[in-house]
Amino acid sequence: MKERVFVLYQNSGVYSGRALRRMLAGIHEGNVLGGYPNRFASILRKNPPSCVINLGTTGEFSFNGTVVNPREMVRAASNKRQARIAFQEQEVPAPQLFLRGSDVGAADLPVIGRTSYHNKGQGFWFCKTRDQVQNAVSRGATHFLQFVPRTREYRVHTFCKKKAFGKESRESNDYVSVKLVEKVWQGTGKPDPRRIQKNHEFGWVFLGHQNRREEELDVVRYAAKQAIAALGLDFGAVDVMYRIRDKRPYVLEVNSTPSLADETADTCEVYAKRILSMLGATETKDKK
Ligand SMILES: Nc1ncnc2c1ncn2[C@@H]1O[C@H](COP(=O)(O)OP(=O)(O)O)[C@@H](O)[C@H]1O
Ligand SMILES: [Mg+2]
Repeated sequence: MKERVFVLYQNSGVYSGRALRRMLAGIHEGNVLGGYPNRFASILRKNPPSCVINLGTTGEFSFNGTVVNPREMVRAASNKRQARIAFQEQEVPAPQLFLRGSDVGAADLPVIGRTSYHNKGQGFWFCKTRDQVQNAVSRGATHFLQFVPRTREYRVHTFCKKKAFGKESRESNDYVSVKLVEKVWQGTGKPDPRRIQKNHEFGWVFLGHQNRREEELDVVRYAAKQAIAALGLDFGAVDVMYRIRDKRPYVLEVNSTPSLADETADTCEVYAKRILSMLGATETKDKK
């Protein structure tokens, strides 16, 4: 099928969006376009594509074709407070959620305060006392999470199966994990124990193949499918912690704008091929 495809992105997804567009153009028979919402609006007026791949934008547009990751689902995922309420309602394994600072009891400490729209480690308050919880509230925390110590952290790239694409409500088994990476310490010396977050800037990066047990990875993959099914996205990168002591997964969030611009990783290629097959556009230039 020679679908005319448009990759839609905004500032936060510009490098990923361009990389995905380039990758799709290399393997898709049909036309591949891409750009910001204003470019999309002008193309809609002139010669609309048959399908849009939405990398994390939430603005409204009137388009009758196929949308991969419709904005309603992207909204549901990017409002982290709302997403965590959905996890709780649908019994997705996750750190215990407190929707008000006053809900945090002394026995619940420590907790982590977060804003509704956090990103890249922003809007993060590690609270050891209830005073610190109150302080976090006054600085913008809208919810709190139980602090889960001593975990391994994974990112699971998860896609809707082709036969479930377009279905209104989704179950875990409507999804497949297409790639799993683990956050690994790459800084010098040992990680600083005062740094709670495993963040890129603190020396943690995602790498594959850490030789973990398949049972552990299966638990993590399944939690990721539960999380993305709760939000109804067509694809996403799910951040999952795995607590070594109780062998339990804890879902943190689903990212609808995963990083695809890393030249050394195959993530972009995996996404491009999955997206085409999800759309039923199986004819690719690549005849392998
Ligand atoms: N409840 C928690 N318990 C332990 N560590 C956490 C918890 N929540 C977040 N973290 C740490 O903070 C990092 C960032 O959290 P995350 O929810 O993925 O938000 P973002 O990536 O948007 O900042 C995680 O990768 C993890 O290292
Ligand atoms: Mg994260």
